[in-house]
Amino acid sequence: MVVEKIKKANVAILISGRGSNMEALIRASKDPRYPAKIALVISNKNNAAGIEIAKKYKIKTAIILKEQYNSRIDYDRALSSNLLNENIEYICAAGFMRILSEEFIDQWWNKIINIHPSLLPSYKGLNTHQRVLDDRTKVTGCSVHIVRKELDNGPIIIQAAVPVEENDTEEILSKRVLKMEHKIYPYSLMLLTSKKITINNDIVKYDDKSSLDNFLLSL
Ligand code: GAR
Repeated sequence: MVVEKIKKANVAILISGRGSNMEALIRASKDPRYPAKIALVISNKNNAAGIEIAKKYKIKTAIILKEQYNSRIDYDRALSSNLLNENIEYICAAGFMRILSEEFIDQWWNKIINIHPSLLPSYKGLNTHQRVLDDRTKVTGCSVHIVRKELDNGPIIIQAAVPVEENDTEEILSKRVLKMEHKIYPYSLMLLTSKKITINNDIVKYDDKSSLDNFLLSL
């Protein structure tokens, strides 16, 4: 079979730790038909395990520590120049535990996406799974959204729900959600970089809703 060569969008992933969502994105991007190439991984932590994983895939990496800069704006300007140097077009925050400045978000308007382990707008912030368990809700999940200046907020691209079972611990529940994160994040990046979505009045509209429905049914 001849696979047609497509022009891939250049994507950077921002991480702070383990990097399992980053790895899911990298693996998806290896498919010649996938519309994005992971060109750069940046961590704000020295010891992020994800950096070693990115190196294993021969992806360019950088570590930018906050201690090297006097302010959030200075940090974000350095981040931006690293991204521009590599001709990055889109940014995926994947467990990047740092708030991005308004200036940075404006500069990369509608080009930054984030994954969060809850059904937004519920359970923004940290310790989502424990809070879900404490509240005894029956359903939780994960969301991929376009980044806006408020934390874990912005137009939602995809959400997936998972059940909360009676004897769940934080560890069991987070694993169940993470498995779903690894599916919806690559699909969301595909929609964004192949321009199969448009954002109108901060609402994501799909060009082909039936393919999305088929994807969601396959989860
Ligand atoms: C993921 O569960 C992601 O949804 C969450 O951090 C984890 C990172 O894991 N992100 C947030 O909470 C953002 N507010 P990973 O490094 O293995 O992808």
